[in-house]
Amino acid sequence: MKDDVTYAVWAAERRARVEAALDRALPPANERAATLVEAMRYATLGGGKRIRALLAYAAGEFAHAEAADIDAAAVAVEMVHAYSLVHDDLPSMDDDTMRRGRPTCHVAFGEATALLAGDALQAQAFAVLGRAGWRDAGRACALLAEASGAAGMAGGQAIDLAATGSAMSERDLETMHRLKTGALIRAAVRLGAAAGRPLDEEGERALDAYARAAGLAFQVVDDVLDVEGSTATLGKTAGKDAASGKPTYVSILGLDAARAKARSLGDEARASLAPYARARRLVEIAGDIVSRTH
Ligand code: IPE
Ligand code: IPE
Ligand code: MG
Ligand code: MG
Ligand code: MG
Repeated sequence: MKDDVTYAVWAAERRARVEAALDRALPPANERAATLVEAMRYATLGGGKRIRALLAYAAGEFAHAEAADIDAAAVAVEMVHAYSLVHDDLPSMDDDTMRRGRPTCHVAFGEATALLAGDALQAQAFAVLGRAGWRDAGRACALLAEASGAAGMAGGQAIDLAATGSAMSERDLETMHRLKTGALIRAAVRLGAAAGRPLDEEGERALDAYARAAGLAFQVVDDVLDVEGSTATLGKTAGKDAASGKPTYVSILGLDAARAKARSLGDEARASLAPYARARRLVEIAGDIVSRTH
C-alpha cells in the first residue's frame, strides 16, 4: 500500500483491509450455531469507525511492520471492542437499543444470544492472536487479556455501573475512563507495534505516552458527543449519559472544559511523537480522535 496519500485515503484502505480480515477470521455464516454466528458477524462487520484497527496499523507502521503481520492485532482488538459494545448495550448495563445506526445485538437476536456472541467474539480474538504465528504470541495474548479484564476494560465497566447515579471525583472519573476505554486503545497501539521490529526504549516510551493520552481523549470526546451529537450522526441514542445519571467529563467539568480537556490530551498525544517523522499516521489519528463528530 502506498503511503504518500492523504490521511482519508490511508484510513479508508486500512478500514477495508480490517473489514476483509475480520470477515475471514469470523466463523462462516452457514456453520453450526447459525444464530450465534450471525449475531457475531452482525456485531462486528459493516460498521464502526475502526479507530482501534487504525491505531494498530499506524503503530505497526511506526515499528516497520508489514500490514499482513499487523492484521491479527487489528482483528483481535476490534473483536474485543465489538464484544464490549454488545455487552455494554445490554439491558443490565447501559440498556441501549441502537448501535452503529442499527438495532443493538440483543434487540436483533435476544439477550441470551447477545451474551454468547460477546463471549464468543472475545474467545475468537485470542484464537486469532494466538495463531498469528508471531514470535511472541503468548506475550501478545497476555497484553490483550490484561487490557480487557479486571485491570482494564471489564474493571472500568464495573466502576461505571457502580457509579451510575452517584457523584464522582475527577480523579476517579479519569481512572474509570482509562480502564473502560483507554486500556484497549493502548493495547491496540502496543499490539500493532509488537507486529514490527523492537523499538528502542525512547521510542517505546513515546509511543506509550501517545497511546495513553489518545485513549483517554477518546472517551472524553465520547462523553462530549453524547451531549453535542445527534442520534442520526452518532448511530446511537444521544443524550443517554445525562438521562441515565452517568458521571462523565461533561457532567463533572461542564461542556467547555470537557472539550478543552480533549484538545489538550490530543495535543499531548501528538507532542509525544513529534520527534518522529514516521509517526505521521499516529499523529493524524490523534487529530481525528479529537475532531471527530461521531
Ligand atoms: C464506542 O466506541 C465505545 C467507547 C469505548 C467510547 P467507538 O466510538 O470506537 O465505536 P465504533 O467502533 O466506532 O462503533
Ligand atoms: C463504553 O463506554 C466503553 C466500553 C464499551 C468498554 P460508553 O457506554 O460510553 O460507550 P457508548 O457511548 O455506549 O458507545
Ligand atoms: Mg457504558
Ligand atoms: Mg454505553
Ligand atoms: Mg458513551
